[in-house]
Amino acid sequence: MKIGFIGAGNMAGAIIRGMVSNGFGGNNLLVHAPPPAPPLASFEDCGIRMCTSGEEVVKGSEAVVLAVKPQVFPQALPELSPALLLRKPLVISIAAGKTLSSIEQLAGPGLSIVRVMPNINAKVGEAISAYCGNSRVTEEQKSIVRLIFEAVGEAVELEEKHFSAFSAIAGCSPAFTFLYIDAMATAAVKYGIPKGMALKIAQQAVLGSARMLQESGEHPRALMDAVCSPGGTTIEGVCALQKNGFEAAVQAAVEASTEKDRKL
Ligand SMILES: NC(=O)c1ccc[n+]([C@@H]2O[C@H](COP(=O)([O-])OP(=O)(O)OC[C@H]3O[C@@H](n4cnc5c(N)ncnc54)[C@H](OP(=O)(O)O)[C@@H]3O)[C@@H](O)[C@H]2O)c1
Repeated sequence: MKIGFIGAGNMAGAIIRGMVSNGFGGNNLLVHAPPPAPPLASFEDCGIRMCTSGEEVVKGSEAVVLAVKPQVFPQALPELSPALLLRKPLVISIAAGKTLSSIEQLAGPGLSIVRVMPNINAKVGEAISAYCGNSRVTEEQKSIVRLIFEAVGEAVELEEKHFSAFSAIAGCSPAFTFLYIDAMATAAVKYGIPKGMALKIAQQAVLGSARMLQESGEHPRALMDAVCSPGGTTIEGVCALQKNGFEAAVQAAVEASTEKDRKL
């Protein structure tokens, strides 16, 4: 199975590195990005074929990942269209805000197209990616999508109508979480813990809490209740968060990001 990438930036680089470190042979990957493509040398070290055009990638691939910025699509896709319509590979777009129908309009009719939204945590192999396909996409093609995106984390199939909300809670939420971690650490600095140490403590506490949720299978409220001893310190903090609008602020952030995505 040959998989091609158009674009070799942050996201393509993370996915390709994930695939190669998961054992996918670099010699089955084809990549094109305009010169000078930054990671060229390290890609070639893995046996990846660096192509001089997008057309060359399409001609040699069973699946092609479109990993360029959304604003590049109106120019790049019509250029690729003749090769796509001839070869008919599975087309996988990771562009934010580009719908299946808009991709089909630019790439041409009759193609199997999958839209995937990964997140930045792909860089550390902990992404959560959502995917949806048009009516031509087969179960076998969906398994190619999972092969690619499970190399950098988890992948879930989601109806396209939910992609904006998904983008908020998966694409944007790392920023929300970074802000939360920094706010906790900053507060600890007031009590004398140096910032670097406070950040290390806060980030590990968040990482461990996410793993507790994953591994226990418990509801978050049940785990919260379990750490709130009657009359203890944690319930004081939880009540302070609620009094200061923590949940409403988080919900407002998700709503703002979802609505913005819908307007893109
Ligand atoms: N980064 C994220 O967290 C994230 C999350 C979800 C989805 N995405 C989506 O992933 C896509 C890529 O994002 P990114 O962050 O990886 O962007 P990026 O780092 O800017 O990478 C884009 C790549 O495309 C190349 N490129 C530009 N025009 C091209 C063309 N005509 N043909 C072939 N390659 C071309 C760029 O080369 P040059 O650098 O030489 O221009 C670069 O290698 C975007 O559509 C974005 O919406 C990103």
